[in-house]
Amino acid sequence: MHLDPIIQTAGDAVANAIGILQFYYENRPDIRQKGIKDLVTQADIESEAAIIEVIQKRFPDHAILAEESGLSTSTSESRWVIDPLDGTTNFAHGLPLFAVSIAFQEKGITQMGIVANPVSGETFSAVIDQGAFLNDKNITVSNTAQMEESLLVTGFPYDINANPGILLERFNQLVLAAQAVRRLGSAALDLCFVACGRFDGFWEERLKPWDTAAGEFIAREAGAKVTNFGNQPFAIDQLEIVAANTHIHPQLLDLLRIDAAANKPLDG
Ligand code: IPD
Ligand code: CA
Ligand code: CA
Repeated sequence: MHLDPIIQTAGDAVANAIGILQFYYENRPDIRQKGIKDLVTQADIESEAAIIEVIQKRFPDHAILAEESGLSTSTSESRWVIDPLDGTTNFAHGLPLFAVSIAFQEKGITQMGIVANPVSGETFSAVIDQGAFLNDKNITVSNTAQMEESLLVTGFPYDINANPGILLERFNQLVLAAQAVRRLGSAALDLCFVACGRFDGFWEERLKPWDTAAGEFIAREAGAKVTNFGNQPFAIDQLEIVAANTHIHPQLLDLLRIDAAANKPLDG
């Protein structure tokens, strides 16, 4: 498939979403009076509607998987995966770490991804086999080779209270092994920050397809290895993701191997 119209459409959709997210972010004081939840819901819904409108006008037959509206009825093998606002909690607190994320897949293979932070003006993007970009600049993963020199990032699912044990065990392991671990609150940006070498590795559990679709693709195009915890190639419907430069990736996998029953690191 010729990707130029797809890239153009994604860019236009992201531009509209950026405008909406900027508006609600800058006007938060007024909107906050209605309650934080309303603000977030409005920003999420309007951003998603604006993205879908652009896509459907140009590609009415394409399937769409979007966080707020779910999966469209189309059975097309061309599919868009959309998170209209990744980093909702940050957005609601006025922390400028959030993004709009759009990926395009053909027969389940991601062809293009774009993640844009409306506040920083940073747009990460990639097209299949063409490398990854931060705005107009080509990006690659870091060269950090040792776990103790690495800066890692992770996140926690909203339902962490239901099963915190193993998640926190893994976090403890990595905090002790790495130079430092961060938790930013936007999986899409976490993955893009691996892509441009700010982080050496990322892991998280129980993410949704729209959280990872564009970011994991951008990270791979920038040279990251992206798998599940069992070292199988990552697919966006999987519940575990590890993305890291190729030196850190195996070390990260080793440290994530925890015996769920005993809640302790596995030997060997
Ligand atoms: C969330 C963010 C966060 C991750 C959560 C996601 P949302 O997405 O990506 O970093 O830890 O699990 O749900 O809800 O802000 O779109
Ligand atoms: Ca998300
Ligand atoms: Ca979201």
